[in-house]
Amino acid sequence: MSTATVKKTQVGLNGKIRIPGDKSISHRAVMFGAIANGTTVVEGFLPGEDCLSTIDCFRKLGVTIVQDGEKVTIEGKGWDGLQEPTEILDVGNSGTTTRLMLGILATRPFHSVVIGDDSIAKRPMARVTGPLRDMGSYIDGRENGNFTPLAVRGGATKGIAYQSKVASAQVKSAILLAGLQSKGVTSVTEPALSRDHTERMLEAYGVEVKRDGLTVSVEGGQTLTAQNIIVPGDISSAAFFLVAAAIVPESNITLEGVGLNPSRSGIIDVLEQMGASIIITNERVAGGEPIADISISSSNLRGIEISGDLIPRLIDEIPIIAVLASQAEGKTIIRDAEELKVKETNRIDTVVSELTKLGATITATDDGMVIEGGSSLHGAAVSSFGDHRIGMAMAIAGLIADGEVVIERSEAIAVSYPSFFEHLNTLQK
Ligand code: S3P
Repeated sequence: MSTATVKKTQVGLNGKIRIPGDKSISHRAVMFGAIANGTTVVEGFLPGEDCLSTIDCFRKLGVTIVQDGEKVTIEGKGWDGLQEPTEILDVGNSGTTTRLMLGILATRPFHSVVIGDDSIAKRPMARVTGPLRDMGSYIDGRENGNFTPLAVRGGATKGIAYQSKVASAQVKSAILLAGLQSKGVTSVTEPALSRDHTERMLEAYGVEVKRDGLTVSVEGGQTLTAQNIIVPGDISSAAFFLVAAAIVPESNITLEGVGLNPSRSGIIDVLEQMGASIIITNERVAGGEPIADISISSSNLRGIEISGDLIPRLIDEIPIIAVLASQAEGKTIIRDAEELKVKETNRIDTVVSELTKLGATITATDDGMVIEGGSSLHGAAVSSFGDHRIGMAMAIAGLIADGEVVIERSEAIAVSYPSFFEHLNTLQK
C-alpha cells in the first residue's frame, strides 16, 4: 500500500493533456472482441488495473490477447471459442468485468468461478445473477448468488423482458449479452437511461440492437464480427482535471480527445450550471462515440441541485463534484444517488468522511449529500479506502487545501488512471 502527499499548488494549472482511454469502453472492446469472429485491434485502450483484469479473465477463457500499452489485439473465435477455464477468473476490483462477464458466461456450456478483491466481495451481484438465472443459467454464490465467489454453469437460456429497478449499464449489458445467445428476444427496460456504450459497440460489431425509449432489445442467435476500435478519452478521468481547473485560481487547461457521449456528460452540464468557463472544440466521432477537446478556466461558481435523470449521467463523478461544490457559493444538494452506496466503496460515506477531515461542511443524506459552499480546506490524513475515485478527489482537494493532504492507499488510483499524478505534474509546470 502506498501513500501520496499533495501540497497546495502555488501556480494555476496550465497546459494540455490527452486523457487516457475510457474504462467502460476499453472493457467492452476486449470482451466483445473475445466473443467476435476474427481479429479485433483496439487503440487508445486504458491500461488501468480494471481493464487488465478483463484481459486476464478472457485469456483464462482461452482467448489469445496481446496487449502493448494502449494497443490490444484480440484473436476472437466466436462464442464457441471460449473454453472452460482451468483457473479461477479473478476480476480484481472491477465491477464491470464481473457483471458483463457473467452475462457472457451465462450462456456458455461450462463451469467457471468468479472472484475479486475485498471490495468486489461486498458488491451486490443479485441484480445480475437474478435475471440471468431467470433466463436459465445456473449461478450460485454466497448469500444465494448475491456475492462473490460465484460459480457459473451456463445453460440453454431463453430471452426475457426485464424491468430493471436501477439505471445500471452493467445490469443492462449483462442481460443483453446473455440475450445474444438465448432463444427469442431479450429486452431490458431501465428507470432512466444509463450509459449506452454496449448498445453502440454491439452495433459496431455487427449486432442488431433495437432501442425504444428506455427499452433496449436484441434477438437471440447473433454473432459479432471483429472490428478495429478507437477508444475515446475517459470523461470520468477528465472530470478530476476539469474540476481542478475550475477551482484553482488562474488555471486554464485543455483536455484532448475526451468522450462526450450524452449518457456520460452530466459533469459538463453541472460545471456549466455552476458557472464554470468551458469551451468545447474539435468535435468529432471516434469508434461510434462523440469526442472533443475541452478547455476550462477558473471562475466563480454557484451551488446547484443535482438529481433525477442527471444522476446516471454523472454517477462516477459525484466524489469530485463534492469537491467542486465545496468551493462554490451557496449550497449544493445531490439527491436520487443511492447507487453511490454500492460502488467501489459506499461513496456517500467515504466522500462525506474524507472531505469533512479536510474542513468541508458536508452532510450525508439517504440518497446523496448536501455540501455547503465556500469552505476553506486544510491539510489532513485521508484514505482512498481502496477506491480510485476517492483517492483522486482527495488529491484535487489537496491542490487548494492549506498544508498537506496525505492520501493513504493511493495505489488504488491505478485502477482507472495510472498516469494521474504524472498528468497533474504536467499541468502544474
Ligand atoms: C459502468 C457502469 C456504471 C459505472 C461504472 C462503469 C459500465 O455502473 O458506475 O463505473 O462500464 O457499465 P452501474 O452499471 O452499476 O451503474
